[in-house]
Amino acid sequence: MNKKVITFGTFDLFHIGHLNILKRAKEYGDFLTVGISTDALNFDKKQKNPIYCQSSRMEIIKSIRYVDEVFYEESLDLKKQYIIDCKANILVMGDDWKGRFDFCSDICEVIYLSRTPSISTTEVIELIKE
Ligand code: CTP
Repeated sequence: MNKKVITFGTFDLFHIGHLNILKRAKEYGDFLTVGISTDALNFDKKQKNPIYCQSSRMEIIKSIRYVDEVFYEESLDLKKQYIIDCKANILVMGDDWKGRFDFCSDICEVIYLSRTPSISTTEVIELIKE
């Protein structure tokens, strides 16, 4: 049976940590779906907008060779529904989220991968500001 993998994120200021997790997520299956958090969802969580708007972030992620399908994640509360709608067998997230997606393990396998060290969008923004 073909395995479908899903992952979620903002993927703002696309960097090597983002590429690595998408590449490694795809290795767990045959089809990779990425839920890209909307600008509104980011604003709700962090009270600020991402640097790149959602349509740009989506265009970039859609162009990555490991990615087969993209959609907008509009609500954190719909996580399980998105997984069901995409018929995903495996949810992959970076280990900064360790434990926080375990509530999905009744509908799919949940795997946390180690983050690429020494890079994050937040750090890049801070470095540029300095
Ligand atoms: N990620 C990763 N390694 C990094 C940075 C991110 O594996 N160095 C993963 C995250 O764990 C997540 C996905 O990439 O599964 C999308 O993360 P996102 O929050 O969009 O990226 P960050 O760089 O962590 O952004 P921020 O600093 O705004 O949290």
